[in-house]
Amino acid sequence: MAIRVLEQEQIFQINTKHTTYLMGVAAGKYLGHMYYGKRMEDAKGFHLLRLGKAEEVEEKHLKNKVSFMDGFPFEYSVWGTGDFRDTCLRVRDEGGYRVCELLYDGYRLLEGKPALAGMPATFAGKGEGQGAQTLVITLKDALLGLRVELRYSIFEDSDAIIRSVAAINEGEKKLYLEKVLSACLDMDNENFDLITLHGCWARERHMTIRKVTEGKHIVSSLRGETSHEVQPFMALTTAGTSQREGEVYAMNLVYSGNFLAETELDYQESVRMSLGLHPDGFEWLLEPGERFETPEAVLVYSDGGLGKMTRTFHGLYKNHLIRSKYLHSKRPILINNWEATYFNFDDDKLVAIAKEAKKLGIEMLVMDDGWFGARNDDSCALGDWQVNENKLKGGLKSLVDRVNAEGLKFGIWFEPEMISPDSDLYRAHPDWAIQAPGRKPGTARNQCVLDLTRQEIVDYVYEAVAKVLRSANIEYVKWDMNRALADLGSFTLGRERMGEFSHRYVLGVYQLQERLLAEFPDLLLENCSGGGARFDAGMLYYSPQIWTSDDMDPVERLFIQEGTALIYPLSTMGAHICVCPNHSVGRVTPMETRAHVALAGTFGYELDITKLSEEEKAKAVIFNQEYHKYNELVREGDYYRIASYRENNMYDCWQVVSTDKSEALVTYVQVRFEPRRKSRRLRLEGLEPKADYRLEETGEIYSGEMLMQAGFLQNMIFGDYGSRLLHFVRV
Ligand code: DGJ
Repeated sequence: MAIRVLEQEQIFQINTKHTTYLMGVAAGKYLGHMYYGKRMEDAKGFHLLRLGKAEEVEEKHLKNKVSFMDGFPFEYSVWGTGDFRDTCLRVRDEGGYRVCELLYDGYRLLEGKPALAGMPATFAGKGEGQGAQTLVITLKDALLGLRVELRYSIFEDSDAIIRSVAAINEGEKKLYLEKVLSACLDMDNENFDLITLHGCWARERHMTIRKVTEGKHIVSSLRGETSHEVQPFMALTTAGTSQREGEVYAMNLVYSGNFLAETELDYQESVRMSLGLHPDGFEWLLEPGERFETPEAVLVYSDGGLGKMTRTFHGLYKNHLIRSKYLHSKRPILINNWEATYFNFDDDKLVAIAKEAKKLGIEMLVMDDGWFGARNDDSCALGDWQVNENKLKGGLKSLVDRVNAEGLKFGIWFEPEMISPDSDLYRAHPDWAIQAPGRKPGTARNQCVLDLTRQEIVDYVYEAVAKVLRSANIEYVKWDMNRALADLGSFTLGRERMGEFSHRYVLGVYQLQERLLAEFPDLLLENCSGGGARFDAGMLYYSPQIWTSDDMDPVERLFIQEGTALIYPLSTMGAHICVCPNHSVGRVTPMETRAHVALAGTFGYELDITKLSEEEKAKAVIFNQEYHKYNELVREGDYYRIASYRENNMYDCWQVVSTDKSEALVTYVQVRFEPRRKSRRLRLEGLEPKADYRLEETGEIYSGEMLMQAGFLQNMIFGDYGSRLLHFVRV
């Protein structure tokens, strides 16, 4: 890892272990993007090809500046002076002009990686080989008094590059940031495909692949959260890219609110990829002396297909983003009562579940929605975080003590950001709900959203949650969020700052979770948003696991978990064995298959365990043993996608290999049985070619080379929805 600055040529060279990123200054003025790709030691001459000779640039610039701006490969593009593609930065001055020209002003190199105030950010590890370096390049518009800092950080043990931007008003007048993205990448088109992740509730993060054609491809969220519908992620891939081969340029945003991800192919065959805060409805006032910081964008280049890209993201997030003390430990096998009881439970029912769960080896009971206020359905009581003693007779502490006495830990559900119109909190503070004056705030799932841009409301919410946590031995919190934000605005922000609302809301959420972790450092936090609407890198900074989707059907989960694991480590994916027939799609599947798919994530149960047959209970004991046996491998190992049901419409297969290559776990799910087909060829990856591996189930020995080249032949399983776990151990 090294960042080099070639002073004479004004070239910046960022080298990770296997990649190089090059920028150069054209004619001493414009910072241009030169190259991103496989590592290069020496790029002599490329500067001239890509950015042009100084005299030429100078001449074009002086003569026909607008034409020059129209085609230059900007490292950070700006609206208003001739770059007609979608740009990263749009600034308005007090006079209403949106004209800005950012010229190169200097750079500095920092050891380590600066944090971002109030926001999630990647960090250097404490271990050996986990250090970081940061390059800060400064651009300026002297007339506006605007300084823009472009930050690039790299880590010794990662091929990712982290970018973020700071805008500082050094002038004497106000500036209004109308758009300030985190990164863009100007490249030459190579017949690229574009991969993005789409879906909806119960169908999150399905991979979508399409050709990049002329014009713009936009994926974005304006829901105030990341959303079920789309991820702040996109990847450009060269033609024919597979899991193992092809070039990939990917970006992911470390953020949990409105975002814009865009690819634009223009008439010059140039592709601009950009990512950051969504500009719609956004405006940030910069008073003289003030500074604004964007969220971080993670850039990953892979010359080894999607698989290598995935492993780079996983490594980065595990080593440099997730802070939780539980990151490297086995999380308790939990049982959540939501699909077992919905709102219809009391203390005795929960204790009965705990009692049975304990016998089978389950380690924690999570009490979901419905334990507070008058909440017997979803029409009321959000905000009234007082225990409903009609349901939990004797109070919360008594229930927690009883569950603990059964030998289980206790976890609890909250939806702290919400307020039901039918709640004591709303009756006391109707103005705390997000709303516009004179209009009744619209509801979704019968609820409104609290205005977390107001500090007094953040403080209130924090105390309400913390008070409950202080009252009993609660070791886990599921932080839910069940609607998108609308009717935006705050009674206290004022006209000039109203455009800051959406970002300030997200900062309020981050502040709440930061405070929670500071006061309860041993708490295991799981984020959730009506399923997986907040599965994003921002939340991973606070919680080591996130609820992936309300849909736990194992077939639906194949799509959801493939898309999620494309970027996020398996250790972060909340996954449970569901009730059968499944509550989201009605599908009937074998318990083994539900378990095998859930074992790819954090693992747990979401069904009424007291209603299982003796045979099912016996199976649960085995699944729990399998969890203990394989979880370290699944959590810490390297992930390889071997086959995709999304692509072949027949079966799915993934593999996890321990970092020392001494063992591998292969999960095979045969969604459809095919008559007269004998077997499926599973070409494994990541093994030691010269080593032998024993398949634990049969004792058979295979060479690593054979398993990777010829492949393992998995016999067809009769019937639909069958699955197998194959555990290979080096001999
Ligand atoms: C949505 C979550 O995703 C579910 O797991 C459950 O907690 C419900 N909310 C409760 O309202």
